[in-house]
Amino acid sequence: MRSSERYGVTRREFLGTTLAGGVTVLAGGLMFQKLSAAESPAAKSSFLLGGDLTINRLGFGAMRLTGEGIWGWPPDRENAKKVLRRAVELGVNFIDTADAYGPEVSELLIAEALHPYPKGLIIATKGGNTRPGPNQWVPDGRPEYLTKCVEGSLKRLKLERIDLYQLHRIDPKVPVEESLGALKKMQEAGKIRHVGLSEVNEGEIERAKKVLPIVSVQNQYNIENRRSERVLEYCEKEKMAFIPWAPIGGSRASLAKTGSPIEAEAKKHGVSAVQLALAWLLYHSPVMVPIPGTSSLAHLEENIAAAKISLTAEDWKSIEALAARA
Ligand SMILES: NC(=O)c1ccc[n+]([C@@H]2O[C@H](COP(=O)([O-])OP(=O)(O)OC[C@H]3O[C@@H](n4cnc5c(N)ncnc54)[C@H](OP(=O)(O)O)[C@@H]3O)[C@@H](O)[C@H]2O)c1
Repeated sequence: MRSSERYGVTRREFLGTTLAGGVTVLAGGLMFQKLSAAESPAAKSSFLLGGDLTINRLGFGAMRLTGEGIWGWPPDRENAKKVLRRAVELGVNFIDTADAYGPEVSELLIAEALHPYPKGLIIATKGGNTRPGPNQWVPDGRPEYLTKCVEGSLKRLKLERIDLYQLHRIDPKVPVEESLGALKKMQEAGKIRHVGLSEVNEGEIERAKKVLPIVSVQNQYNIENRRSERVLEYCEKEKMAFIPWAPIGGSRASLAKTGSPIEAEAKKHGVSAVQLALAWLLYHSPVMVPIPGTSSLAHLEENIAAAKISLTAEDWKSIEALAARA
């Protein structure tokens, strides 16, 4: 079943409360908003995370602000801070990071650029992945390690409480109940508001939910990789945020390259393939919160403008036909 049929009602339920202050277009059961160029697009379609945090659905991923191999400081530290500040100016209020990005660098840059934080800015970080070297990632889900991770992130981010703390990976050597038990204790101590998971299947989410409430899932997902479609459907049912990483295709930015499956459609609508890929994610599900990452101010502007794209149901039908099979 196509998403236009599948999501009509849900989309209205979710967006009906959040589209105040703009013109809403109803096309084939789907609601889109027409924005003037002067409006900050990312501010216009939101999701209620964990029942109490309103996040603008086009977020920002802060992993690409670090050095090569997600290791060390970027060559131009000031530029990285400019990108973060500009993202917020453009209406982004959901920034994804992790202690492992750099490691530590991404969190430190966020605090340097944005602290004291503007009201309503939500920083989602993660722990449970260690970094032996560039491009190397090794899970560590031991409770004592995760407790240290939370304390470290609080310090680096200059926060008293982390709004969304995500278990970066389930460590196959540690029962997930033990890892999440540590996060539950931190939540009870007031150091974490909400907990999310990353790279999980439905069974793992169910198991985690026996330990504590889970408000989000962050899995790899984009228009040419829909291996997590069932997890997305699960998130819709449970009203959890689905945060697709690699929304542009990841390190190779495959959707920005010539030959992208949506290149011709993008041209037809006068937008870039990256913009159409991001707009498709927002269209495809009301629980979708993409976090495109970039170290470039120009790419940031281009990506955030994707939230302005407003197409007819007929147009989306042609674009849906080009998406990878779920
Ligand atoms: N949970 C996890 O396990 C996990 C794993 C990976 C990532 N993440 C999170 O997800 C976020 C996004 O994922 P990602 O960074 O891997 O992939 P992505 O956002 O799909 O792509 C990022 C790449 O695309 C390029 N790019 C961005 N905008 C572009 C544009 N308009 N035109 C051309 N190229 C563009 C970037 O290079 P430039 O810097 O040159 O723009 C970068 O190389 C990360 O920042 C991180 O927060 C989570």
